[in-house]
Amino acid sequence: MLSISNNYQNNFIKNGGSKKSSYPSFCSNYTETTDVFNPSVKQTKNATFFFRNDLDWNKFCKIILKNHKPEEKLNIVCVPCSDGSEPTSLLLKLMQFEDFRNNVSNFDCIKAYDIDEKQLDIAKSGKIPLFNDNLFASDVLSLALNAGKDFGKTYNVKDGYLELADNLKDKIKYENKDIIDVVKDLPKDEKVVLLARNIFPYIDNYMQVPRMFEALSQLKSGSILAIGDYDKKLPDFENAILKLGYKKSSTENCFIKI
Ligand SMILES: C[S@@+](CC[C@H](N)C(=O)[O-])C[C@H]1O[C@@H](n2cnc3c(N)ncnc32)[C@H](O)[C@@H]1O
Repeated sequence: MLSISNNYQNNFIKNGGSKKSSYPSFCSNYTETTDVFNPSVKQTKNATFFFRNDLDWNKFCKIILKNHKPEEKLNIVCVPCSDGSEPTSLLLKLMQFEDFRNNVSNFDCIKAYDIDEKQLDIAKSGKIPLFNDNLFASDVLSLALNAGKDFGKTYNVKDGYLELADNLKDKIKYENKDIIDVVKDLPKDEKVVLLARNIFPYIDNYMQVPRMFEALSQLKSGSILAIGDYDKKLPDFENAILKLGYKKSSTENCFIKI
């Protein structure tokens, strides 16, 4: 049976019970849910994990840094962020680049959003569970093995939780905000790096997707958009992104606004 998150129920109640979605949101970590496209696949723990391997994080960071001019502000937005694994992965990977550590002066923080308070509570606690369903992802194992040693000690691992080093704790800011509002409110006169990954099939109100596409089409040339494999379950999804004025980058699931 599909498990429906509190968000979905709340939205449903907010909408007067009239908009019944066939795409319920993912749940928080600790409930059992079912993959809507593969009903036999049970997801028993988390809806996200560190270095989700549908993106080449190394190449993604190189694209970000190559695309960023010193005088420009580096706006990085991650929505949905779930328990914080994704923005933390990006920050840790960026920290491996000298260009990022030493040369990016106009970077304040990664702005990360979700609508699930339980996920945001975990993210804001600063202690993110390292091992979820993907125990054998090599990057996750490497994170566990290199804790405390990596590039000026950017993080530590204790009792199966990853914690950012003190100097990085304010480099990700979390907020409860719906993806539609996040994308609509993005600056149009500055380049943006937007991670909007593994979310599109779960947008509760399916009519919101065109609104989101409209907002994506208005982003400044040179903006970078990362999606996930799960988004491509929507028919012709990549072509839809190209039609919004994006081109494919040199790595899978990453697009650049023309
Ligand atoms: C599959 S996870 C994706 C997390 C991460 N981007 C990744 O790829 O690993 C889905 C997340 O979407 C969030 N979510 C669902 N509908 C949303 C919406 N309308 N706005 C923002 N977040 C939403 C859920 O709370 C859940 O944390």
